[in-house]
Amino acid sequence: MVIQDVLNLFGKVDGEIILKHYFNFNKIDIVLNKNKELEENQENLIYEIYEKYKKNYPLQYILGQWNFYGRDFFTEKNVLIPRFETEILVEKILDLNIAFKNILEIGVGSGIISITLALEIEDSKIIGVDISQNAIDLANRNKEKFNVKNCEFIKSDLFSNVNKNLKFDLIVSNPPYINLEDMGKLEEKLSYEPEIALYGGEDGLDFYRAIIEGANEYLSSNGVIAFEIGYNQGESIKDILKEHNFKDISIYKDYNDFDRCIIARR
Ligand SMILES: C[S@@+](CC[C@H](N)C(=O)[O-])C[C@H]1O[C@@H](n2cnc3c(N)ncnc32)[C@H](O)[C@@H]1O
Repeated sequence: MVIQDVLNLFGKVDGEIILKHYFNFNKIDIVLNKNKELEENQENLIYEIYEKYKKNYPLQYILGQWNFYGRDFFTEKNVLIPRFETEILVEKILDLNIAFKNILEIGVGSGIISITLALEIEDSKIIGVDISQNAIDLANRNKEKFNVKNCEFIKSDLFSNVNKNLKFDLIVSNPPYINLEDMGKLEEKLSYEPEIALYGGEDGLDFYRAIIEGANEYLSSNGVIAFEIGYNQGESIKDILKEHNFKDISIYKDYNDFDRCIIARR
């Protein structure tokens, strides 16, 4: 097997990621050595990876890491894979240019949002919760990887284990938001990810309602709430926010022109 065969098997983008991750070949090495034979152990590894890959097992789980906002986070089966689109939520929060002091994230998964905010907002203190112990363990591994000190992860069903005396000036969440109908139509790739990270109730909005409700108690006056949302959920979530007297509600689109996040102020 030569290097070009790896690109043919996995396609150019994933092939390049695999060659970089396992053999440290950069793009120039690849172009200059397309016909170079792989060593036997390298070839065996490629076939091993391909066995999983051809069954649509996500590359992010195979590699055990994925990039988010310029940093390589550990990934693990049983915890949602970091999505590129979630960077928009982080970007829009940072664009507010507010020196948030106390931040709460509901549903941390691998910890990408909390850890990125902790690293990007100096002097912030972040509490991140998740109902899944797998998620909390992975978020803690990532926290150690980046030597983050201003962030703590707690196992909690929504707000249940969050100290009632605390007030946050930002509550952020990328909650499970797929509705019942769409859960039945998920592509095979998504079937490897935990349902608990995806299913948002019959209309997909259960977590938005619960978090906005909880914000009554945990969000400081004038505090900000920020969510990632599904492509068709913007108006419904805006209505829920209005019912709870939130103001300055903005919906932001992703690069495919779909609604992707919503930010409002109490
Ligand atoms: C869509 S994932 C987002 C993960 C991560 N924040 C990200 O953006 O990649 C939603 C997360 O919410 C967590 N979750 C589901 N139900 C929850 C609950 N009742 N309380 C806290 N977290 C919950 C899931 O375990 C999952 O990690």
